[in-house]
Amino acid sequence: MKVQFTETVLRDANQSLIATRMPIDDFLPILEKMDQAGYYSLECWGGATFDSCLRYLNEDPWERLRKIKSVVKNTKLQMLLRGQNMLGYKHYPDDVVRAFIRKAVENGIDIIRIFDALNDLRNIEVAVDEAVKCGAHVQGAVSYTTSPIHTLENYVELAKNMEKMGCHSICIKDMAGIMGPQEAYDLVSAIKKAVKLPIVLHTHSTTGLGPMTLLKAVEAGATTIDTAISCLSGGTAQPATESMHYGLKQMGYDSGLNEKLLKEINDFFRPIKAKFEESGQLTTYVLGTETDALVYQVPGGMLSNLISQLKGLGASDKLNDVLAEVPKVRADLGYPPLVTPSSQMVGVQATQNVLMGERYKTVTKEIQAYLRGEYGRAPGEINKDLQKKVLGDEQPITCRFADLLEPMMEKTAKELGSKAKNEEDVLSYIAFPQVAEKFFEAREEKERNTVKYTIKEI
Ligand code: CO
Repeated sequence: MKVQFTETVLRDANQSLIATRMPIDDFLPILEKMDQAGYYSLECWGGATFDSCLRYLNEDPWERLRKIKSVVKNTKLQMLLRGQNMLGYKHYPDDVVRAFIRKAVENGIDIIRIFDALNDLRNIEVAVDEAVKCGAHVQGAVSYTTSPIHTLENYVELAKNMEKMGCHSICIKDMAGIMGPQEAYDLVSAIKKAVKLPIVLHTHSTTGLGPMTLLKAVEAGATTIDTAISCLSGGTAQPATESMHYGLKQMGYDSGLNEKLLKEINDFFRPIKAKFEESGQLTTYVLGTETDALVYQVPGGMLSNLISQLKGLGASDKLNDVLAEVPKVRADLGYPPLVTPSSQMVGVQATQNVLMGERYKTVTKEIQAYLRGEYGRAPGEINKDLQKKVLGDEQPITCRFADLLEPMMEKTAKELGSKAKNEEDVLSYIAFPQVAEKFFEAREEKERNTVKYTIKEI
């Protein structure tokens, strides 16, 4: 029996434990070994990596991808895409989504995992269509959550529709690490019965259920699991690669992983982990087991964001109040799964509700847009009083929001003029305008200095 491993240390573990602050120079030297270790794929791009590269690391995210691709020649490179939201927090017009996917594949991505926070498939159809056209492996991801309105049948239906859309595999995405082993077993079994595609399980160790959940998913027939190299595993990240490999091997599964190389990879990341611990960016809190998440259903990334957000506001003592407010805001919004961007939206609104001392005294722009239907169909009923309070007599939209958006690529390219060196720059700018602009300026400055230097040399 075979089981495949996707290594998440470069993306999800990096994002969940240290807010995606690992610069490429940290991990570039180990990529060759990672390429030979026998992984099915390396998740290395998308999610928050793009934003973090531009905003904090002064790195061109496209350049990062190309550099990774130049070393990783055998193992598939994987990215996470939020459907019509791409890597940002709002919906983009179709021409942007299509260009982004085309460029991601051109620059080295092999597998694109595509999800919508609300499981509204209208929000992934264009991304799936373009990714199929570009020849990528398209993985449709079902955002897993529990609520009074989410049933096994819902998820099976979603997977069936993703198969119809042309996806090549199905990922069950348990971003909060709340899925238990029995739930995983039942869900994988049910989806396997209904669709012919390989099934991937993605979870987090937040609540400590992760390894059991992955094991039962594999027993039910999941072909692939997401894990992180052990020193950057556990807590809000994924279960450990080596431990899952070891346990599954004992049970007769062949992962194809090279144990000697796994050890070398882990030894390589140890000092990097230590560096982030010393700088205070890696806290014991995200590494621990937090069973409250079973109550709050707060994903790993969201938990660490809430902590740093409250710290920044000097309100760390309010963490428990905010965590208790999160499920209430979520119920008001018709139980959206807590995943980017809805996790941020719910998190910020819950924080405001607590800090203002009055619920919905102010309502964030994002929640207003959500109530207008701009993020898609809510899974359940939205609190009508809240909707009325925010929208007044305005009617929420029922169409796919992107149908209302004007194309942006050409217009933006014109606006940017020589500031954008290529189509990738235009996409970076559309995704994160202010951040990208600053990045372009810094790049220009650097280039000017290099030119001066070269002239002097002559
Ligand atoms: Co995740």
